Amino acid sequence: MELYLDTADVAAVARLARIFPLAGVTTNPSIVASGKKPVSVVLPELQEALGGKGRLFAQVMAAQAEKMVDEALALREIIPDLVVKVPVTPEGLAAIKILKTKGVPTLGTAVYGAAQGLLSALAGAEYVAPYVNRVDAQGGDGIKTVTELQQLLTLHAPGSKVLAASFKTPRQALDCLLAGCEAITLPLDVAEQFINAPAVTAAVAKFEQDWQNAFGTLGLN
Ligand code: E4P
Repeated sequence: MELYLDTADVAAVARLARIFPLAGVTTNPSIVASGKKPVSVVLPELQEALGGKGRLFAQVMAAQAEKMVDEALALREIIPDLVVKVPVTPEGLAAIKILKTKGVPTLGTAVYGAAQGLLSALAGAEYVAPYVNRVDAQGGDGIKTVTELQQLLTLHAPGSKVLAASFKTPRQALDCLLAGCEAITLPLDVAEQFINAPAVTAAVAKFEQDWQNAFGTLGLN
């Protein structure tokens, strides 16, 4: 499976890349805007924070297909192996088809429904990103949407992967992986929740205390 961080926080990526088996970093326009650095600056910084390994994802901003294609090619001049995120609108689908013919890998984003996601895969998207928490927030069932999408891709577009996105809890991410998704992207707070469990910290502290009480040191010798 592929594990991504959904952030443009360069320092956080550098810190967590040391700990997590990361496949790379995903961004979206809101995430990049929150850091106030242009993509031409932040994408190379993120790449360096990953130690030069791992895939980066960045999104086009245009609304019209041919302009999306131009932006995709410009983004790939910054990071040559970048995966281009394209919103799955009618124009976005047209852009994904064109980019496929040019050999540019894409991710169909802003996916709120299984049929919408399937269409982007059929158009040629390498990844499809359903928004789990945003579907839930609309009164839908994000995990059910992801499960259906995963089944549809397995049956009808096996060359495309679900990259499940928009999480507020580790449980949502685990449910997507149990549904068979090959990739997830975690915001920093959810990623931290995977590893900063209070019970684990308490267990390790108790081991240290018991050892210290018996041997007067924390060393093994
Ligand atoms: C993925 O493509 C999206 O950029 C992202 O995961 C959305 O997450 P949010 O709903 O927490 O903003």
